[in-house]
Amino acid sequence: MSLIPLRKQAEINTIDDIRDLIADDMTCVNRLIHESLYSEVALINQLGHYIVNSGGKRLRPLLALLSARVHGYHGTDHINIAAIIEFIHTATLLHDDVVDESSMRRGRETANEIWGNEASVLVGDFLYSRSFQMMVSLEDMKVMSVLASTTNTIAEGEVMQLINCNDPETTEQRYLETIRHKTAKLFEASTRLGAVISNSNSAREEAAASYGRHLGTAFQLIDDVLDYSSDVGELGKNIGDDLAEGKPTLPLLYAMWNGTEAQSLLIKKAIETGGKDQLTEVMVAIEETGALAYTTECAKLESEKALDNLKDLPPSPYKQALTTLAHFAVSRTS
Ligand code: IPE
Ligand code: IPE
Ligand code: MG
Ligand code: MG
Repeated sequence: MSLIPLRKQAEINTIDDIRDLIADDMTCVNRLIHESLYSEVALINQLGHYIVNSGGKRLRPLLALLSARVHGYHGTDHINIAAIIEFIHTATLLHDDVVDESSMRRGRETANEIWGNEASVLVGDFLYSRSFQMMVSLEDMKVMSVLASTTNTIAEGEVMQLINCNDPETTEQRYLETIRHKTAKLFEASTRLGAVISNSNSAREEAAASYGRHLGTAFQLIDDVLDYSSDVGELGKNIGDDLAEGKPTLPLLYAMWNGTEAQSLLIKKAIETGGKDQLTEVMVAIEETGALAYTTECAKLESEKALDNLKDLPPSPYKQALTTLAHFAVSRTS
């Protein structure tokens, strides 16, 4: 037995460890994002740079890069895919803030607050269509097909959500279906495409996709918890935006189903009419019924399902990073 201790591989236990692990790739992604924003139309540059430079977590690009690396990818297409996915995400945020009438994102005023709804919608369209130009340049039909159906599903999810708004009859199943469409699908595409470009077999591709889908579902469940429990300083978004829109998210539905008669009625009315007037009373009902604990528990179950899909991967720092991310989706505070 050798007396020289083996150099222990660095543990990847925190988001910062993950960012360090993938820093070189992420630098390339950020460079490509900035280059690809270019337009001769000044407003597009201005608004586009404002949102792109406002410090998002870049979680979906991170997932795409890690998924490619965990499957042994050595080319450069993962950089393009990560940038494309962040463009799609950014487009959905521009549109989402108009629909949700949100005034704060990433600790700053939303683009719609500064430039108005029209500019936000149209620059969102620019980012969507630019992402398709970037996809085409990869000349990979499978990648294009995954991303085309993903954007279509996200659009369906946002419309499903619009239909659920102000409807207190929304069921848990309908809520889950909506968040799988509007949020989990893009996470799924991020991790699936890492496997696709690595020419992984279909079992590995499906496992990667399933990891992303469950992680994304956990991520949105926690987003809906944070909307009632965080603060604007920490989250960078206004608390109570979901209530203002009469959005029947799981914390609100659970409190309505399990509260006293008065609490149930209060929440039913709040969903039907929207507005933040009753935010304090609604928060009390959410607290008293354990609605946030219940929603967090659902997120934990999703995160465990995500982790199940990693078990056949050989040990690597990238696998550790994916494991850490599945925990982060539940424990995050912003
Ligand atoms: C916000 O996503 C939209 C949701 C799906 C909840 P993120 O929380 O990943 O947003 P940024 O990019 O980090 O700002
Ligand atoms: C996520 O839903 C929206 C998208 C997937 C575009 P939310 O409306 O909860 O996202 P935030 O809270 O505004 O970031
Ligand atoms: Mg929103
Ligand atoms: Mg939200």
